[in-house]
Amino acid sequence: MTAILTALANLSIASFGVLLGFKGTLRAQHNLQPQPLPHQFAGLLDHPWRLQALDPPQVLDAYGVAAGMTVLDLGCGVGVFTCTAAHMVGASGHVHGVDLQAAMLALASKRAIAEGVNGWITFHHCGAYELPLSDDSVDVAMLVSTLGEIPDKPAALNELRRVLKPGARLGITEEMYSPSYMLPGNVRRHAREAGFQPLASADGLFIHHEIFINAK
Ligand SMILES: C[S@@+](CC[C@H](N)C(=O)[O-])C[C@H]1O[C@@H](n2cnc3c(N)ncnc32)[C@H](O)[C@@H]1O
Repeated sequence: MTAILTALANLSIASFGVLLGFKGTLRAQHNLQPQPLPHQFAGLLDHPWRLQALDPPQVLDAYGVAAGMTVLDLGCGVGVFTCTAAHMVGASGHVHGVDLQAAMLALASKRAIAEGVNGWITFHHCGAYELPLSDDSVDVAMLVSTLGEIPDKPAALNELRRVLKPGARLGITEEMYSPSYMLPGNVRRHAREAGFQPLASADGLFIHHEIFINAK
């Protein structure tokens, strides 16, 4: 009996070690070569466990999203935050959802129609470095678990500075279980180097939020 228990304990420790090693390798690979979350994993983005830990209305409220605003969701994925933003800005506002992957945008568009907010969302199939938006046109931009997936972070942040109005806000949220997770200090350094001023931050055990002002 003791031998079986010992064997089981050793097996658990070994499995945990393998998992930890796998996660570490995946994260190191993503840091060296950032890449988008494959659309085959889209189901993870609106999984109830995720949305329990990361409540979209609460996050967007902290970013300062309000009625009548123009909001940009860069790396919108399946549109969880895009549609929430659309409910919050209402018919007098507008939301732009941007993503590199057409398959993600198709799911986001389906969600917007189902939630009846497609009238005030425009989805753009493009990358972060050349946004199809005018200068000084956005009130709040957000990157939820997206900055780490973008290879040229300074280029993306400079482009965000261009489209954000002077004094507008940039909200960045990072989730530790994402392979592209960025540490708070890393996010702050990139944003500061691009010319954003820190406004607020909230560090949780697995998730952290950073809010910046577009100082022009
Ligand atoms: C981890 S998902 C997060 C999706 C969404 N923000 C959310 O939290 O539910 C990141 C998304 O960013 C997109 N993405 C990654 N790099 C991008 C880039 N350079 N330009 C535009 N979208 C990008 C990916 O295709 C993916 O859909």
